[in-house]
Amino acid sequence: MKFYQLTPKQRREILQSEGIKLEKIDDQVLARLDQLSENVIGQLRLPLGVVQNLQVNGHKYWVPMTVEEPSVVAAANHGTNIFAQNGGVQAVSKRDGIYGQIVLRVNDDFVLAELENAFPHLIALANQKFASLVKHGGGTREITAKQINKLVYLRVLVDPAEAMGANKTNSILEFLSTKLVELPGVAEKLFAILSNYSSQLTTAKVKLDPATLGGKRVAERIALLSKIGYEDPYRAVTNNKGIMNGADAVLLATGNDYRAIESATAVLASQTGQYRSLSKWTMEDGLLVGELTLPMAIGVVGGSIKAREDVQQSFAILGQVTSKQLAEIITGVALANNLAALLAISTVGIQAGHMKLQARNFVTELDANADEKKQVLAEMIARKDYSESYARKILQEIRKDK
Ligand code: MEV
Repeated sequence: MKFYQLTPKQRREILQSEGIKLEKIDDQVLARLDQLSENVIGQLRLPLGVVQNLQVNGHKYWVPMTVEEPSVVAAANHGTNIFAQNGGVQAVSKRDGIYGQIVLRVNDDFVLAELENAFPHLIALANQKFASLVKHGGGTREITAKQINKLVYLRVLVDPAEAMGANKTNSILEFLSTKLVELPGVAEKLFAILSNYSSQLTTAKVKLDPATLGGKRVAERIALLSKIGYEDPYRAVTNNKGIMNGADAVLLATGNDYRAIESATAVLASQTGQYRSLSKWTMEDGLLVGELTLPMAIGVVGGSIKAREDVQQSFAILGQVTSKQLAEIITGVALANNLAALLAISTVGIQAGHMKLQARNFVTELDANADEKKQVLAEMIARKDYSESYARKILQEIRKDK
C-alpha cells in the first residue's frame, strides 16, 4: 500500500520505526485531522490568544488570534486599547464577490460580441444550477471578456454570500466552461480557476488624539514613519509584515485562507507600480489619522470552518458575526498591530517589548518545574535582563538557595 493509503496510525508507525519521536495524539483527534489534509501523521499546535477590546463601528468584540510570535497579541491589545480611547475603528467594506477566470483559445471565425451576447443567458444558467448559493444571498453576478489575439480572457464575478467561496466559484467556472466550449468559434478551454486578485476590500480608519499616544511629537513621528513606508520598499515590506501579524493571526484562528489574503495584499501594495505600505498615517487637524485597506476574501461558513472544533471555539469568542463584520474586525486588528509597531519603533524601539516576551520562550525551555520557571521569569523582569544565559543563571541560584 502507498503511504497515503495507510491510516494515520500506520503512517506514524512507519516514522517511529525510523527512530522519529512523535508527539502523543488522541486517536479521535488524529482521525478528524486525517479528513482535513493528506498524509496526516499528527498536528502542530499554536497558542490561541485574545484581543479584549476591539471596537468596530460601535460594536465591541473579543477577537481570537493564533500566532507563535511573542508580542503580536500584546501589540494588538495595545493598539486596540488606544483605538478604544478614541471612539474605536470605523470600517467600510466592498463585498461584491470574488473573481473567477476562464481563458479560451478561439478560432479565426470567433466574434467577441457574439460571445458577450451569451453572457446574460450563461449567468442565468449558472444561477439555476447553483440555486442554493442564490438562496443564501449569493450567485454569479457578472461576466466580462477581453480578447488578445487567439485568447479570450473571461472574468466572472461570483458573490459567495457568507463563505469565502473558492470551491463554489471553481465549480461555477467549470460549469460555465462546459457551456462556453459549445459556442461558435471557441476552440478549447485553456483553464478555469478562481483568481485571488484583490476584490473583497475592507477599509479601517481611526482618528487618534495625540495625547493618547504620548504627545504630538510621537504622533508626528508615526506620520513621518508612515511616509517613509510609502516611499521606501525596504520599510514598506516590514510595515506590511506588522500588519499581516495581526491579520494572519485572526485569519488562522477563524479557519480562513491566509495564503489567499497574503497573495492579494501584494497586488494592493504594488498598485502604483512600486511596492508600498498598505497603511497610511497622517496628521489632520491635530489628530493622527490611520487608514488601512485589505483584501478580505474570507468567510464565516464553508471550507473546514464548521468541521473544526478549534475554529468553532474562535467563533464562540467572536460571537455571531457576518463575513463583512469579520473582514472589518480583521482589518481593525491589523491596523492596531501596525500602530503598536510604529509607536514602539518611533519611541523606545521594538526590542524593549520583544525581549521581555522572548524571555518567556527561554523560560519555557528551561529544564525546571513550574514554580522555578515562575521565579526565573519574575527575576528577569525585575532585573530587565531577558537573556537566555541570565535565565539559566537565576535557575542555578534558586536551586543553590534551596
Ligand atoms: C515584527 O513582527 C513586525 C514589525 O517589524 C513591524 C514594523 O516594523 O512595523 C515590528
